[in-house]
Amino acid sequence: MGLEEEIKKRRTFGIVSHPDAGKTTLTEKLLLFGGAIQVAGAVKSNKIKKGATSDFMDIERQRGISVATSVMAFDYRGKKVNILDTPGHKDFAEDTYRTLTAVDSVIVVIDVAKGVEEQTENLVKVCKMRKTPIIVFINKLDREGKDAFDLLDEVEQKLGINVVPQSWPIGMGQRFQGVYNLYEQKLCLFSAHGKQAEEETMTFTDLDDNSLDQIVGEAAAEELRSEVEMITEVYPSLEVEEYLKGNISPVFFGSAINNFGVKELLDCFVEIAPAPLARETEERLVEPNEPSFSGFVFKIHANIDPKHRDRIAFLRICSGIFERNTNYKHQRLDRKLKFSNPTSFMAARKEVVDEAYPGDIVGLYDSGNFKIGDTLTAGETLNYKGIPSFSPEQFRFVNNANPLKTKQLNKGILQLMDEGVAQLFVMEQSQRKIIGTVGALQFDVIQYRLEHEYGASCTYEPLRIYKACWVTCDDPKEMKEFISRRKKDIAKDKDGKLVYMAETQWGLKTVQENHPKISFHFTSEY
Ligand code: G4P
Repeated sequence: MGLEEEIKKRRTFGIVSHPDAGKTTLTEKLLLFGGAIQVAGAVKSNKIKKGATSDFMDIERQRGISVATSVMAFDYRGKKVNILDTPGHKDFAEDTYRTLTAVDSVIVVIDVAKGVEEQTENLVKVCKMRKTPIIVFINKLDREGKDAFDLLDEVEQKLGINVVPQSWPIGMGQRFQGVYNLYEQKLCLFSAHGKQAEEETMTFTDLDDNSLDQIVGEAAAEELRSEVEMITEVYPSLEVEEYLKGNISPVFFGSAINNFGVKELLDCFVEIAPAPLARETEERLVEPNEPSFSGFVFKIHANIDPKHRDRIAFLRICSGIFERNTNYKHQRLDRKLKFSNPTSFMAARKEVVDEAYPGDIVGLYDSGNFKIGDTLTAGETLNYKGIPSFSPEQFRFVNNANPLKTKQLNKGILQLMDEGVAQLFVMEQSQRKIIGTVGALQFDVIQYRLEHEYGASCTYEPLRIYKACWVTCDDPKEMKEFISRRKKDIAKDKDGKLVYMAETQWGLKTVQENHPKISFHFTSEY
């Protein structure tokens, strides 16, 4: 099969949700459909259990599990589906943002009772920044939840996306009878055991057909008829082009745990979801069907065995064919590297691959050459864009607790930052190091890993910082003036970019007003 056909076959996507909405369950059902796993329960949730903030072994175990389930590939109806897993815990949100740079589309899972929750809002914002096409799956219809129309309004308002329902629930909770597949005009009935058998799917081109009343009961049939009429009036029909542009999102209803509505979702997904697309580099737009290989690292995972400091760098192939034992150019280091054991992931199974195509993810064993965002190419100078750092939420000074291990501490901190565990800022004036994270959990992870992997120990000191803002200015004189006046609040990030550490929201506003020519950015990509 040629490169072009291989690209057309690929569907690389991520599932995002607020914790507990059903992401892990849905992933598992998709893998069952794809034959990648045979029994339910084979995919372990990689979420860190609630309240486990100081259970380090648990964190370590979870990290181990999430390597195996980081990428799950399976074949379905002639397509090769790559699911990129994202951590459920909100303290690892940054990891999820980065993973979203490596997908071509996403499925958003929403709990019918809880509606749109905070983390879903944040994740969808990131998808919208890149115009990533979104399909919505409303889960847990076997339980009582919000009215379907109200929920669609909530999705539109809170997520700012235009929805197009593709299936419609008939009742919910105790009264849940099934879904009407609007796309194919089929009635899919839900049985108590939750198994959706073929014979339970009936095609209904005309909902006025009397037999509908006999099947679902008169009241439910009437309700369905009037609701479907309303849907047709209120919502546009599904224009795939508009979905691909990120302007509209198809919505499906179902119950992942009961395997209900999942097939409709998957069938539509493989049909309409985008194959790998062209991607921006700092130099030019790169088409996936270009013959020369290129790709970028979006995630780095440390080995859980502390005796082997090896890491796995996850590389998304963007163009050409990636081949084993071939020299590739590492852009940042300007060095040739070759990989003898690139790994592909099939559910919990890892396999050495000889070649991989655009849309595929390969794991590269790394002894410290890679940072998140690094580009590899067959030789051309290219740098993939689009792995931003967001301003952390929590900041602490980091102190060396064992002066005999200063070297180890510095090395450990730098390597953990390369992995993207947290962000490091160095204050210009005092040269003190500050670690910034999304959640408190990372501080514990860093301390634990520094000790166990690098033999170094650190302590933290609380610090009041509201936001880290990357600062730029077209006028170098103005910038110099700003730096000298705000010296004590200026730091540099890991790439040497200038950052203003704002103590309070109010303080930031005042500084912005006093320095109108300076631009303040909340992400490192501007
Ligand atoms: P997450 O990855 O998004 O965090 O969610 P996960 O799939 O782990 O699901 C969270 C909980 O919701 C699980 O229950 C799961 O069984 C349940 N769930 C998933 N889909 C459905 C559904 O369609 N209907 C209903 N009623 N429940 C659903 P748990 O009790 O937290 O865990 P477990 O003991 O069942 O594993």
